[in-house]
Amino acid sequence: MSVLPISNGKPYIESDDIKEVIKSLKSGFLSQGDSINQFEKLFKKKFKCKFSIACNSGTSAIYLAMHSIGVKKNDVIILPSINFIAAANVANLFEAKIYFADVDIQTGQLSVESVTRCIKKNKIKKVKAIINMYLSGNLRQVSDFYKLKKKLNCYLIEDACHALGSYYYYKNKKFFIGSCKHSDICTFSFHPLKTITTGEGGLITTNDKKIYNKSKLFRSHGIIKTNKHWKYNVISPGLNLRLSNINASLGISQFKKNR
Ligand SMILES: Cc1ncc(COP(=O)(O)O)c(C=O)c1O
Repeated sequence: MSVLPISNGKPYIESDDIKEVIKSLKSGFLSQGDSINQFEKLFKKKFKCKFSIACNSGTSAIYLAMHSIGVKKNDVIILPSINFIAAANVANLFEAKIYFADVDIQTGQLSVESVTRCIKKNKIKKVKAIINMYLSGNLRQVSDFYKLKKKLNCYLIEDACHALGSYYYYKNKKFFIGSCKHSDICTFSFHPLKTITTGEGGLITTNDKKIYNKSKLFRSHGIIKTNKHWKYNVISPGLNLRLSNINASLGISQFKKNR
């Protein structure tokens, strides 16, 4: 008996996407070129956030987020008990203490009440970060989580890998997820199962310049360029988490479909 593969999400690739990718291939600039900046600018403009940093996966985006807020060994990270494994894996790499808070039986998502219960039950004294995840792109209690973050004096990261294009209203004003109006950092994935795809890819948005600078540095080996041609300084540890120009070009044409 032969088994047919059943895809649970087919990427929407049209001729304009193919044209953009071919243009990028023909340009001769396959890495570290202007299409990365162009891709990042689309997010800033649409979401009205100050900074955006593209990277090579949603998992890398979560890594950049945790690095930029300075997660250390034994720092407490609270995660939803229904989640993709990426955030837990990254927190584990940072040797953080991970607590999985219950999710709401109706929404399958964290609630302010369940996080509060988790903190009380486990007698947690200090929370480093809550990493909320908007399952299936449903935004729940966005501004309430922000109030909780303020109360706990911790970071709030929105894992919005399912939620590109989702929006909510606060005081009658519309906010796209990614605006970081009610969080410190928002992370996205462009895996083919997501709203738009770059093949593999990710991005973070933030309004915090320190978070932006730390993430940008880490994304590319901790290197800063000098004015002198071919000369650069390595000022901190880092990795190569860069998105390629080819992927960014696909992202640019995909983003335009996300109205
Ligand atoms: C909620 C969530 N976070 C993070 C990720 C990781 O994204 P990526 O596969 O681009 O590394 C995914 C991917 O499926 C996800 O669903």
